Amino acid sequence: MIREIVQVGDPVLRKKCESVKRFDSALSSLLDDMKETLEAADGAGLAAPQVGVPIRAVIVSVDEGYFEFINPIFVWQKGEQKGPEGCLSVRGKAGTVVRPSKVKIIFQDRKGDKYSLVARDFFARAVCHELDHLDGILYTDKAENVRDAEE
Ligand code: CO
Repeated sequence: MIREIVQVGDPVLRKKCESVKRFDSALSSLLDDMKETLEAADGAGLAAPQVGVPIRAVIVSVDEGYFEFINPIFVWQKGEQKGPEGCLSVRGKAGTVVRPSKVKIIFQDRKGDKYSLVARDFFARAVCHELDHLDGILYTDKAENVRDAEE
């Protein structure tokens, strides 16, 4: 089921999200809905607070594949890259953001199993953007120049 994507100004986007403790059917349904919502919006990532659920769960869809990260934590961040970013919760805008060029995270999957992953380049950017959402941070807080996006 496609869920409504919360827009900037809604306080849920500014919450520090709670850790996921129950890896149950409600979590699976939420993740399935987030995936459908992301596909419909043609985005690279979506965090649970963007559909109004302030828990530590994000999804990322990039060239490397489709990923679900539950309770993700950075192990390290290296390098620097500067590039354009947008957000499905800040419609019609884009900005230039400096991010690490390579990150390592640990996370759980929807069953609660633990993994680690290294992401580079755009994948790393997407991971950083989505993990920021879990702490109530929007890319517009970090962007040099937020402007109207080109259609
Ligand atoms: Co976003």
